[in-house]
Amino acid sequence: MSADEQPILQLIGLHKEYPGAVEPQVVLRGLDAAFARGESVAIVGPSGCGKSTLLHIAGTLDEPTSGRVVIGGRDTSKLTEQELARLRNRNIGMVFQDHHLLPQCTALENALLPSIVFRDSAADESPKDRAMRLLDRAGLAEHAHKLPGQLSGGERQRVALVRALINQPDIVLADEPTGALDRETARRMMELLAELHREEKATLIVVTHAREHARMLDRTLELRDGTLVPAPEDSR
Ligand SMILES: Nc1ncnc2c1ncn2[C@@H]1O[C@H](COP(=O)(O)OP(=O)(O)OP(=O)(O)O)[C@@H](O)[C@H]1O
Ligand SMILES: [Mg+2]
Repeated sequence: MSADEQPILQLIGLHKEYPGAVEPQVVLRGLDAAFARGESVAIVGPSGCGKSTLLHIAGTLDEPTSGRVVIGGRDTSKLTEQELARLRNRNIGMVFQDHHLLPQCTALENALLPSIVFRDSAADESPKDRAMRLLDRAGLAEHAHKLPGQLSGGERQRVALVRALINQPDIVLADEPTGALDRETARRMMELLAELHREEKATLIVVTHAREHARMLDRTLELRDGTLVPAPEDSR
């Protein structure tokens, strides 16, 4: 990151605790991180260490107990619910472990959903053209009019990825997007994620358990004791 370029995403002093039976469970403890425009980062760490919690907070779907999430220089804690919903829809694409597609909508309709809420009128490509181009890019051109129930697990995840990219987000957050897929399908999904993030110039943050997936990205951070540290094996 050059000194004059502001990070697209800053996490500042994040603390998160959940109420516990005896005492609160502290999941994040003063976590700081900054992500540059266009970079790709893997986040690793053992089950239950707080990776999903972190991604939900970074994506403004959940609030930290204290600390700030700054997106494109805007402190998200200062935004109204409406401004936040707009920012989320426009600037952030999310892919989850399970696809979260609407069962009654086709692949194309699912991919278009975020563009119905927000439409960038300055874009030179219509949302439908963009969706079809990305579906084609994801090897799904022939499946555009199928329902999620008529698609394989890997195909559904690729539709979810196209949906995450439809509004040209600055940031794509993916929480174990390959978790439910077999090894080969998972590898192809990760390759597609890495390729599309480069083509679309989005910042990509992926939670993954697989080291071979983490190695496809620019750097790897480990969530340890509630903070993010460079992963020991990431000696690039
Ligand atoms: N809504 C909640 N209420 C209470 N505790 C929660 C809640 N969500 C998560 N936790 C707890 O916070 C800790 C971190 O959970 P989180 O889902 O962030 O972990 P993770 O690193 O994503 O794990 P995994 O790799 O298994 O997905 C866990 O101990 C979990 O039980
Ligand atoms: Mg998780």
